[in-house]
Amino acid sequence: MKPKKAKDFLRVLDFSVDEVKTVLTRANELKKELKTGKKSEAAKGKILGLLFEKHSTRTRISFESAMYNLGGNCTFLSSKDLQLNRGEPLKDTARVLSRYLDCLVVRTFGQNIVEELANWASIPVINGLTDQHHPCQALSDIMTVIEKKSQGFNLDDIKGLKIAWVGDGNNVAHSWIEVCARLDLNLYLACPKGYEPDKHIIEESLKDSKANIVVVNDPIKAVEDADVINTDVWASMGQEDEEDERKEIFKNYQVNTKLLSHAKKDAIVLHCLPAHRGQEITEEVLEGPQSVVWDQAENKMHLHRALLEFLVK
Ligand code: CP
Ligand code: NVA
Repeated sequence: MKPKKAKDFLRVLDFSVDEVKTVLTRANELKKELKTGKKSEAAKGKILGLLFEKHSTRTRISFESAMYNLGGNCTFLSSKDLQLNRGEPLKDTARVLSRYLDCLVVRTFGQNIVEELANWASIPVINGLTDQHHPCQALSDIMTVIEKKSQGFNLDDIKGLKIAWVGDGNNVAHSWIEVCARLDLNLYLACPKGYEPDKHIIEESLKDSKANIVVVNDPIKAVEDADVINTDVWASMGQEDEEDERKEIFKNYQVNTKLLSHAKKDAIVLHCLPAHRGQEITEEVLEGPQSVVWDQAENKMHLHRALLEFLVK
């Protein structure tokens, strides 16, 4: 029998407009409070499990730090150590872990894996990156955009901005499409032919949204007069054997000083990291005055605290 479900966060569209806004606003409040020494204890006595099948620095540590900061505890579950790796079904793993934990963050390959776990778990399941989505990343990235481009963290201030994505139409791009749709934003994605984001995700995202989502192949078109420029690796985790081929296909999609000169003078540059200097972004831009990548990385922790507060009851 399937257990009674808690709310999950497997993709940005799992949250309504109000839920997206609530989590973003709370993340900003928690960030401010922490700087003054005040701490929420919303997860006191709760345990977060982290089940990771791919590498992670930021997502793992920022979730662990977030949970400890909320007064809770964490346990890291490397999938290779679990019976899961010896064939125990996902549905059994999900039901058993639900008896020990209060929430589970999963980083894996197919979206179907997090869906199956969530379907059988009675605790909230959070997608910490799959091949299709990276929803927590897009929320903390947009938090960074609001912080840098609005007065007093006002979500309406960023509505008129031009946001550009340069590179692969990958998991992070999909989650950006969904968050821009939820917030009615203006997103231009420049991707090589054949590497554009999934059309179904764009269609689904645009239902009930006033967002403007435009996919082009020319990076200059996307970056022209942009306020925000975002990029990510050319070969994601799991695509290591395509790396050489992709270096050739994506070579004109590098965020460098020349491309940046087409954007507004005060444009900010985001990268979810880890970055490959000399590929999708140059050292000069990554370390330059328009880069906000370190604040962006910090915001993952604040956003994860707000998300855990919201989901773990
Ligand atoms: N941005 C991000 O998800 O980084 P990690 O792969 O280090 O978690
Ligand atoms: N698109 C990248 C994001 C890493 C945080 C990947 O999936 O490897």
